[in-house]
Amino acid sequence: MEKPKYYITTAIAYASRKPHIGNTYEIILTDAIARFKRLQGYDVYFLTGTDEHGEKIQQLAENSKIQPKEYVDKVADEIKGIWNLMDTSYDKFIRTTDDYHEETVQKIFKRLYEQGDIYKGYYEGAYCTPCESFFTETQLVDGKCPDCGREVTQAREEAYFFKMSKYQDRLMKHIEDNPDFVFPESRKKEIVNNFLKPGLQDLCVSRTSFNWGVPVSFDNKHVVYVWIDALSNYITALGYKEDSKENNYLKYWPADLHVIGKDILRFHMIYWPIMLMALGEELPKHIYAHGWFLFGEDKMSKSKGNVIYADYLAKKFGVDATRFYCLSEMSFAQDGNITYDNIITKYNSELANTLGNLVNRTVAMANKYFDGKFTNPDITEEIDKDLINNALSMVDNVEKYMNEIRVADAVSEIFTFARRCNKYIDETMPWALAKDEEKQDRLKTVLFNLIESIRFIAVLLSAFMPQTSEKIFNQINSQEKTLESIREFGKDINIEVGRAEPLFVRIEEEKLMEEIKQDMEKQIEEANKENEVKEEKTNLISIDEFDKVELKLGKVLKVEKVEKADKLLKLEVDLGEENPRTIVSGIAKWYNEENLTGKLVVVVTNLKPVKLRGIESNGMLIAAGEEDVRLLTIDGELQAGTEIH
Ligand code: MSP
Repeated sequence: MEKPKYYITTAIAYASRKPHIGNTYEIILTDAIARFKRLQGYDVYFLTGTDEHGEKIQQLAENSKIQPKEYVDKVADEIKGIWNLMDTSYDKFIRTTDDYHEETVQKIFKRLYEQGDIYKGYYEGAYCTPCESFFTETQLVDGKCPDCGREVTQAREEAYFFKMSKYQDRLMKHIEDNPDFVFPESRKKEIVNNFLKPGLQDLCVSRTSFNWGVPVSFDNKHVVYVWIDALSNYITALGYKEDSKENNYLKYWPADLHVIGKDILRFHMIYWPIMLMALGEELPKHIYAHGWFLFGEDKMSKSKGNVIYADYLAKKFGVDATRFYCLSEMSFAQDGNITYDNIITKYNSELANTLGNLVNRTVAMANKYFDGKFTNPDITEEIDKDLINNALSMVDNVEKYMNEIRVADAVSEIFTFARRCNKYIDETMPWALAKDEEKQDRLKTVLFNLIESIRFIAVLLSAFMPQTSEKIFNQINSQEKTLESIREFGKDINIEVGRAEPLFVRIEEEKLMEEIKQDMEKQIEEANKENEVKEEKTNLISIDEFDKVELKLGKVLKVEKVEKADKLLKLEVDLGEENPRTIVSGIAKWYNEENLTGKLVVVVTNLKPVKLRGIESNGMLIAAGEEDVRLLTIDGELQAGTEIH
């Protein structure tokens, strides 16, 4: 039988900077869902990638004095590196600078224009540069950007518009008819009430104020609005083309689940479905808008040293511990919190104590009492039933939660069961059984039940903590890894375990926190350095700016003292013009008629005239020094009026 398909996507991350743990959370979450769907027997296609166009990225590249493509190549590599490090099992990584994507975006835009859904007009309104979005006055919050809270500026541009309003009713109906199209419910309601109910404005879908984007093919002064470009990734990645649709598109579209953060739900719940309606394509089946990781009380910023990166966590705690923290700490409909203290506490209690101890104790006992090898003689007692029922209901519950995308609840089920297993050890006291000759068979059954329970855990954990799951399979030496194999308890009759190796070594909190503190200080230092470089860079001027200053050689014809002004000299300077210019200069302390008359000096000739002691000065001489001032002159004889360049 052919496997049912499951197409799942993440938002594509901005290739603007190294992603922090908040951005990384999403790929870990999506990976857990994708892995679980595979376990359930789906033919999964898992897409992720990078969003690489837009004004902000262009500016960042300019600041770094490199081309935007070079900039995004670097960041996209970094993002992919972190996604790989976190063991995410994506099938495709799309970049919006990929040729096939850009071409298809151009075609989509052209088609929407030709069929009248996109038209040309002018945009005037409040614009938020970092978010690259225009807002109406009513959308602003306290006059600021409703998405990021930053200042907006007034802007007017010739632009193309998408007739969103045309599709409003159809979209509303779709949302009403498909109650699980978008979840959680609370986030869906917010968008319906704040954006849909007040009525959709036509959306400005092109920009002319910068050029780092996909050019509008029939009017290349414009680039396609970054959200139209970005959202299209979900279909261009499958090979969607207007004329020919590749197999992957036919096979996998519509998406079964778009996983995104709550801040970008508006784009996915309104613009994206409307784009698809206009293209005559099916809408995605579900959109899940997850919460955000908050970084303790403080807002995250490098200058506070509190930006948390996934690769750093992986170095300190391991990849799976990082995945575990992310997955278990963010509940279905709320935000999560991430602090080092909390990570350490959870690591020690859940990973080292609950899971690590369970596996370690069990495998060690199997080795100690039976050299790791025995069969189950089936000496069961009443107490076993509860354990077995718990194991089976864990499987059902995890599946139920995963079908509802309640990932934290699914993970929590597994750890609740691991605690139940530890309790079973306390209840059955294998060490006491071991001392009693007559209880050897009962001991085998107890250890068998534990190893089988651990196998259940390992099968389910393969979606959430794949490396740990593998390590457990190796220790219990089992190849029974399918979901089917844990629908029934007691499949593996012959036990032959490997060596007991600790899965998670307890962390010494104080020592680690000291290291972390030092690393945070390093981050602050780095941020300060970056800021210094930025400041230095803002002092730099371009050649065009320098070219604005007009410099010429002038010959001093006449020198006079200015009355009641000790410092000033009034000069007549020949600049090769019809008449000599009058220039007043503060050099009387060092120059006089004698040593200045006839000299060739350097003059700024396009300064606005100023009056000094009632005399209009039409230029400025250039000099060096503070205490001892010397005029700039030239090496050799050139004509007065010669331009300096
Ligand atoms: N490029 C757009 C998405 C385009 S999708 C067609 C974008 N990129 S992003 O890099 O800013 O964010 C990527 C994802 O990370 C988004 O879903 C966003 O909500 C999520 N997160 C950003 N910060 C986050 C946290 N602190 N916590 C959890 N998720 C976070 O938006």
